[in-house]
Amino acid sequence: MSFDYINALLKKPTTRTPIWVMRQAGRYLPEYRATRKQAGDFMSLCKNPELACEVTMQPIDRFDLDAAILFSDILTIPDAMGLGLYFSEGEGPKFERPIQTLADIEAIPAEVNNDLTYVFDGVSTIKSALGTRAPLIGFSGSPWTLATYMIEGGSSKTFAKIKAMLFNEPQMLHLLLDKLANSVIAYLDQQVQSGADSLMVFDTWGGVLSKQNYLDFSLGYMQKIVSGVKAKHPNTPITLFSKNGGKHLGEISATGCDGVGIDWTVELGDVERQIGDKVAIQGNLDPAVMYATPEIIRAEVKKVLDQFKGDTGHIFNLGHGITPDVDPENMKVLVDAVHEFSAK
Ligand code: CP3
Repeated sequence: MSFDYINALLKKPTTRTPIWVMRQAGRYLPEYRATRKQAGDFMSLCKNPELACEVTMQPIDRFDLDAAILFSDILTIPDAMGLGLYFSEGEGPKFERPIQTLADIEAIPAEVNNDLTYVFDGVSTIKSALGTRAPLIGFSGSPWTLATYMIEGGSSKTFAKIKAMLFNEPQMLHLLLDKLANSVIAYLDQQVQSGADSLMVFDTWGGVLSKQNYLDFSLGYMQKIVSGVKAKHPNTPITLFSKNGGKHLGEISATGCDGVGIDWTVELGDVERQIGDKVAIQGNLDPAVMYATPEIIRAEVKKVLDQFKGDTGHIFNLGHGITPDVDPENMKVLVDAVHEFSAK
């Protein structure tokens, strides 16, 4: 099977610019909200392979998307490590038992795949449902981003606790990040064995670090993951996405990854000139464009497409996840515009 999404990642010829959208299965779709209600709550939905498959397929059935992404969450690993993940309405993810001490870090089990079989069952269930319609993206969070939630106990604006640990007890934080990197490698390995065609690592909070700390505490562990997964699956493309990581794209693209995700604060043409022949670029329409009229959405899509000069190596996406209050009709406008304007 030849997919434009995989070909673009490997910088092989494509028929048109492929597109998928972060959080494409999610609350902006009424059918998603109905399935989540049936499951009871978000984590019950993630833990039910049949229902996770159903919501993964919902955007694929509705729009002409070039890839499906496993319906799950990055916080499955810390949940399996015993931290007690829950979602409180309007406040995002929370942990009952956040990481506070060295003893907490030492107590984390080295291997958690046994408690994540629901994810791997989800991957194989989705893979059969997809057939040859589209490739499947597996994913995980970056060690740094997972650690922010594990140490802060949930979302944070200041990252006070994890940054205090970074400066006061750097070796302690490194121990946690290394354990997480090993778990992520085993997790992604098992996703590929279950049928994932490509992988993405979400580093939502790498951009809050200074340059050197980003390299030492975030990118270094993503580098370890790329090397570890590539040793087992040299042909599975890997995309790294550090939100607000526009200043680090040179270093990110030197990790051996195949694709770099970019948010909308950088200009696609500049990024391409900086790193373009080394790796593919995924992005980067401002998610807020999805609140505009269909005409404006089409014009903004064209601007992004025009910035990219290469023949291949661009995967269209938003610069971050689609928001819950977007009109699903605008998603169709987006997907169709990308295909129409980029057809060769
Ligand atoms: O992209 C996809 O369609 C695949 C599924 C996916 C989800 N989360 C589903 C989800 C992926 C790839 C993620 C990754 C994820 N989860 C990240 C990294 C990407 C990013 O957004 O920066 C992070 C930081 C998380 C942790 C997390 N999970 C947060 C901050 C939230 C939002 C809480 C809120 O109320 O807005 C979640 C919940 C979540 N994950 C939802 C979905 C569809 C919404 C849950 C719901 O249905 O209420």
